[in-house]
Amino acid sequence: MHARIALLPGDGIGPEIVAEAVRVLQAVADRFSHTFELSEHLIGGAAIDAVGDPLPPDTLKACKQADAILLGAVGGPKWDDPNAAVRPEQGLLRIRKELGLFANLRPIKPLDALVDASPLKTDIVRGTDILFVRELTGGVYFGDSGRRDDGKTAYQEMVYSEAEVERIVRLAARLAQGRGGRLTSVDKANVLEPSRLWRSVTTRVLADEFPDVTLEHVLVDAMAMHLLVRPRDFDVVVTGNLFGDILTDEASMLPGSLGLLPSASLGAPKSEGGGPGLFEPIHGSAPDIAGTGKANPLATILCTAMLLRDGLGLPDEAAAVEGAVHDAVGSGVRTADIAAGAASVTTTEAADAVLERI
Ligand code: NAD
Ligand code: IPM
Ligand code: MN
Repeated sequence: MHARIALLPGDGIGPEIVAEAVRVLQAVADRFSHTFELSEHLIGGAAIDAVGDPLPPDTLKACKQADAILLGAVGGPKWDDPNAAVRPEQGLLRIRKELGLFANLRPIKPLDALVDASPLKTDIVRGTDILFVRELTGGVYFGDSGRRDDGKTAYQEMVYSEAEVERIVRLAARLAQGRGGRLTSVDKANVLEPSRLWRSVTTRVLADEFPDVTLEHVLVDAMAMHLLVRPRDFDVVVTGNLFGDILTDEASMLPGSLGLLPSASLGAPKSEGGGPGLFEPIHGSAPDIAGTGKANPLATILCTAMLLRDGLGLPDEAAAVEGAVHDAVGSGVRTADIAAGAASVTTTEAADAVLERI
């Protein structure tokens, strides 16, 4: 196959981990006789520095024309002034919105070989297999916002429409049908009006369209606790934009590091006019370790597996990447974040270990 892949390295460790993921994509292309046409584009702080815009028009155009997009991370202290007119993170929010990427799939499946990397007890972690489905283009992230009272009061609205809830819940329920048949919907319906709409729409969609899927509603504060006590009880978890952001960083402590978790941001299927997917690790630009060779590249390498499977329809190639990652950690390859104090390898050495196994 010939595929165009747009690369958005971004800031901090972004360029370091994307460079390793590119080597993996090239190895897959060689082994399976594909041609991946890779092009690199500006986003985030790097784009602000270069052209004053965190999502330059050229970047958006190239992404729309690509078959899939791979992102590193955006943001960092350099652009963190609360009074700045533009922020790196706006580039990421805009690209998700512009491409209609309403669904962010975040799988949490600790590897057996790595259970000792988790700060949680092994008997709690082992066997966990959760798929978070985070709504990505709505909610409080995209509500009306501003200042009033001479700047002394700030507001940000949380808005969800029925249509937004229906499409994310349908997707999550279809995914549940292909897995354990259980869907947990997380909200704050005891306090928030958008959560009450979310809950009633979810109940209706499941009753009308997915009688074979078991639905439970859980309040987000309780969910934050259940996740650390009985993570094995969850199959597919669907939730809004902000709750999904927070719960998945928390859930990263089940596998043991943010540096292990990939995600896929997807819109409507191609058959319904949808565009390319965006594949992005769930972690950020990790300014505290940028430039030190300590970044774990596995989250981004696992993003290439999701890109191959969900973005390009290449399941065997995706399995080859995932298998290589599992073998590498199985044979003891550990970056500092998952080494639990033992000897560790650098970003590039970790990627080398994966490449050897593809
Ligand atoms: P972060 O995810 O960058 O880092 C949190 C902690 O996890 C840090 O200690 C970091 O060193 C560690 N970590 C993260 N990724 C790692 C990896 N691959 N290997 C090893 N350790 C890793 O979150 P933060 O520090 O709160 O945010 C830093 C910047 O990143 C902010 O500007 C934030 O807005 C941005 N951010 C961007 C994205 C994104 O681009 N998708 C996601 C989250 C945060
Ligand atoms: C993530 C990040 C982003 C989000 C930020 C950087 C906009 O935290 O991808 O999880 O909150 O969605
Ligand atoms: Mn986040």
